[in-house]
Amino acid sequence: MEMTIRPRRLRSDPVLRKMVRETRMDPSSLIYPAFVAEGIRQAQEIPSMPGQMRHTIDSLLHLTEEYLKAGVSKMMLFGIPAEKDEVGSGAYAENGIVQQAMRALKERFPEMYLIGDVCMCEYTSHGHCGILCGHDVDNDKTLKYLADIALSQVQAGADMVAPSDMMDGRIAAIRRRLDENGYVDKPIMSYAVKYASSFYGPFRDAADSAPAFGDRKTYQMDYHNVREGLKEAELDIREGADIIMVKPAVAYGDVITKVRELVNVPVAAYSVSGEYAMVKAAAAAGWIDEDSIVSEMATSCFRAGADIYLSYYAKKIAGYMKEGRIG
Ligand code: PBG
Repeated sequence: MEMTIRPRRLRSDPVLRKMVRETRMDPSSLIYPAFVAEGIRQAQEIPSMPGQMRHTIDSLLHLTEEYLKAGVSKMMLFGIPAEKDEVGSGAYAENGIVQQAMRALKERFPEMYLIGDVCMCEYTSHGHCGILCGHDVDNDKTLKYLADIALSQVQAGADMVAPSDMMDGRIAAIRRRLDENGYVDKPIMSYAVKYASSFYGPFRDAADSAPAFGDRKTYQMDYHNVREGLKEAELDIREGADIIMVKPAVAYGDVITKVRELVNVPVAAYSVSGEYAMVKAAAAAGWIDEDSIVSEMATSCFRAGADIYLSYYAKKIAGYMKEGRIG
């Protein structure tokens, strides 16, 4: 049969297949999200996220050493305070759990790049991401608190802050506060394109942060929308965001691609707790192969246009990259 163009030619052996790969990744783009809890004596496994822990500062130090060895040198920290209150005091306390963890980590492992998640929901008694006014979150009142959180994290050693609250104007408020305090060089990674998603279910178990009433739909985005996400991304860049994040990742490839086409800043994709839990559960049942599914999910985000990938599987993914399975 006469055929000049045969796509299979370039797939005929592994060396060739690797040479013509269109998507290239390496462990320097990976961020591992970790939980650190106050008032526990030992790390506790999170039931809905097998293999992920609520850490003590000690166990987090051990983990950090392990992750650095594995080639993962960026970590995002979430805190779980012993006490929660109406105004989320634990989030910006000088001696809050995240602030303590950051000081300890920076002292032992200055080479670990630390990112602080800036939000209130893990710290408020009502579980919402801001200060309440009746049954609604008061956007403008919340901004000052978010700036307080960001500043306290940077003062404790955070290399970057990542606001995940979805209040309007928070990037400007945080940028101004950091600049006024001399932290002009600390970047902001904005969870700009964050959807109201059921994929966060296991995280809310982990952080005990499910809203006590209502939901987050007045601040997180409706998943029917993509243009709204582009508007959020543009606004945040105008306010000073250095990196734009899309979240969740796996069901949102189209959003990652559209954001990538619009903006000229790095784009991050966050593969969230529900994505992790689903893979873990199916793998435990023997229905899927965990290593290949995780490789494929990560690669799909980079292929969609992400420059940075946040995943609870970061260490495994770094391993796949080193083996040459992906990357
Ligand atoms: C805090 C925050 C959440 C996640 C990251 N930051 C929870 C939420 O918005 O309810 C979710 C991360 C995950 O599910 O892995 N606002």
